[in-house]
Amino acid sequence: MREWYESKVAEVLIDQATLQRRVVELGEQITADYEGLPLTVVVVMQGALFFAADLVRAVDAPLKMIPIQASSYHGGKASRGSVVLSGIDDFSLSDLVDRHVVLVDDVLDTGRTLRRLIDYFTCEIQVASIGVAVLLRKPTRREAGFEVDLRYCGFDVADEFVVGYGLDYQGEYRNLPFIAVLNQEVTK
Ligand code: IMP
Ligand code: MG
Repeated sequence: MREWYESKVAEVLIDQATLQRRVVELGEQITADYEGLPLTVVVVMQGALFFAADLVRAVDAPLKMIPIQASSYHGGKASRGSVVLSGIDDFSLSDLVDRHVVLVDDVLDTGRTLRRLIDYFTCEIQVASIGVAVLLRKPTRREAGFEVDLRYCGFDVADEFVVGYGLDYQGEYRNLPFIAVLNQEVTK
């Protein structure tokens, strides 16, 4: 391990090769599922940035990509109640009409973020369909009223705070090429 993070990381949960293999499998599924359909991948920034970049390169079909910001998180480890969306302009919205949308996020935790996004896309625009892809799912964390049907899920993980491959703690650690649990001294 490199010096700058070796004292911070308690455990590598999912290594780089395992991430890449799974992402390629998900890309192949998307390729098959959306064959011949107009596809737009909506990327929930910033956490899903790396996952989405690898995922779309594993999709062997034409597609469009747009970013959206969803913030429920304020620097720490606990989710906030409401989710604020931003960053999507009228042009991008109108470009989604009648297209099949795959919404890509990093973690399905309480479900608040993805529920808000799905409701937004189904209420605001006439999309042809919405499928959700997440890298990680924390099965024990879902809150009542915020259920989300996942079409694509990379890995189920325990209810632990993780970083890397796009996921951050207070803005840092996104560039770790694997998913890791931080030492408790870092996150307390
Ligand atoms: P939800 O709205 O509670 O489902 O939270 C989803 C968002 O919280 C994700 O998109 C992440 O940005 C963030 N999040 C949840 N768990 C973690 C974690 O373990 N590490 C980093 N971010 C997380
Ligand atoms: Mg997020």
